[in-house]
Amino acid sequence: MSLSTVSFDEKKENYGRFFDPESYLKFYFCQPTTDSNQDVFPSWSLSDRELNNEIVRAIRFKVRTMKFCIENALRPKKKPVKVLDLSTGPFCGNVMFASGFDQVTEIVCSDFLEENRKYIIRIIEVPNSCDLSEAFTWTKFTKWAYGNADLVNLFRKKCREIKFVDMSKASATGMSEIESSAPYDLINSEWAFCEGSRDLENYKVLIQKCNKMLQKGGSLVLLDLLEQTFWVPDASRLDNRMPTVCVSQDWLKKTLIQNGFAVEHIILHFYEQKHSPMFNAKGNILVWASKTHEV
Ligand SMILES: C[S@@+](CC[C@H](N)C(=O)[O-])C[C@H]1O[C@@H](n2cnc3c(N)ncnc32)[C@H](O)[C@@H]1O
Repeated sequence: MSLSTVSFDEKKENYGRFFDPESYLKFYFCQPTTDSNQDVFPSWSLSDRELNNEIVRAIRFKVRTMKFCIENALRPKKKPVKVLDLSTGPFCGNVMFASGFDQVTEIVCSDFLEENRKYIIRIIEVPNSCDLSEAFTWTKFTKWAYGNADLVNLFRKKCREIKFVDMSKASATGMSEIESSAPYDLINSEWAFCEGSRDLENYKVLIQKCNKMLQKGGSLVLLDLLEQTFWVPDASRLDNRMPTVCVSQDWLKKTLIQNGFAVEHIILHFYEQKHSPMFNAKGNILVWASKTHEV
């Protein structure tokens, strides 16, 4: 049976039908780590090859490379530092990590979907209410990922705003809520630009808007899927394929440089599995870029 991908407008208008915060987290972040081991957090002593699971390898890539870039972007900054996470979704790991830096005084999270915004509000307001199971609590996650079980509490203190964002609107008019709290010293975004934008022109406008919202010298740490055209947010509904913008390394690098950024690092992760019913990305691309001038 050949499966079709819904149109961008159908995805956007019915996003809540396709994307459920807990199903998304459970599938992508709670995979058993090896064939014989049901632990959801893979031991860092295992090599990627030993993990035997493409999604677990991708999550480890996300955690360790975002950690590297956020740490290096924040280390030279002096208090007060303001961080924006663009399309946080229900995944707060890397904003929890950023909360651990003394100089970070304020974190702004954002998302398109109300259910995702509500999920983050619950993490902040009701301790432990968003733990997915006994095996996956946010405290256990930050201890595993960043070696610090206290990051959840620091995040709860430093994140005061969860804003609405719509990346797909022409001329980035759907970014006005987050723009009202600019300038930022660091903007993170993970697996979201290719999802929220309509096409490459729209993607470029988002990069220009990030440039405008950053302080000079500020950092954009952008993790995205490499050359992906569809994905499935819920493994139990494989026919619900959602479209994404197909972005390449060359295009992303060139567009950042043409729009007021210097590229500090590009880190790539290629999938070995060539055919998955869940996605068709070649892998992941993480870019850390710093603002050189206003565009
Ligand atoms: C694949 S999830 C990534 C979530 C999270 N950042 C992570 O790393 O797991 C894609 C996110 O993009 C958000 N999104 C979808 N359409 C959007 C839009 N038009 N504008 C902004 N965000 C959007 C979704 O709500 C979701 O949180």
